[in-house]
Amino acid sequence: MQTMIGVIGGSGVYQIDGLEGASWVRVKTPWGKPSDEILVGRLSGVPMAFLPRHGRGHVHSPSSIPFRANIDALKRLGCTDVVAVSAVGSLRADYAPGDFVIVDQYIDRTFAREKSFFGPGCVGHVSLAHPTCPRLSAAAAGAARAAGVRVHEGGTYLAMEGPQFSTLAESRLYRQWGADVIGMTGMPEAKLAREAELCYASVAMVTDFDCWHPGHEAVDVAAVIATLTANAGAARALVAGLPGLLGGVRTPCPHGCDRALEYALMTAPDK
Ligand code: ADE
Repeated sequence: MQTMIGVIGGSGVYQIDGLEGASWVRVKTPWGKPSDEILVGRLSGVPMAFLPRHGRGHVHSPSSIPFRANIDALKRLGCTDVVAVSAVGSLRADYAPGDFVIVDQYIDRTFAREKSFFGPGCVGHVSLAHPTCPRLSAAAAGAARAAGVRVHEGGTYLAMEGPQFSTLAESRLYRQWGADVIGMTGMPEAKLAREAELCYASVAMVTDFDCWHPGHEAVDVAAVIATLTANAGAARALVAGLPGLLGGVRTPCPHGCDRALEYALMTAPDK
């Protein structure tokens, strides 16, 4: 089987450099339109698909991102692996703006989003004990290191609904819960990727200290954009390094991401 790498770009990541034969394609899904057309091409001989999570021009707010259509569209295009890049606030002193965190756990506090491909008529429960793919996450960490940024392998991502940033009391609470970074788009994306049997890794680019840090101003959009702009080159270099690290030939996921539905379905096959 051939590797195909999907990249979901967050705020500040709107393209892939050097994509050969690139063209924007419109993908139809039963879940509606994805956030935008998807840029498809090859990098170092490996097929890649790039989807801007908020759409070109940043038109989708976190609560209006069509998460199901996005994941379904990447699956339909043939993606085997999906690397999600997003901006986050740091909830700990040693994860500083400019650092990249390879997320491996989530606390999902979102509440106004469609979170599953399953529903009445077809009931399924996938395991989310380990919501990201260790093999793909290791490749993303290697690519980030090669891009010259400070990388933290492992981190718990608090997914909040937004669009407002957190109150000080919330920010302090999430720190007590053991969350390391906070963002508005990590969920339900990771849940849906697992239901779609995709290997999924999350690269969180720290842009700010949210509002809990006594030595830093509370986050605002200007601070987020300033850090993202400074790190855009590293994010693009990370993406460019993925094909070399993953290779073109796809072996079965050692962690079973590509077989997540094997023991997940409750509904009888003839129903
Ligand atoms: N994205 C970037 N910084 C953030 C923060 N502090 N809270 C939520 N989402 C963010």
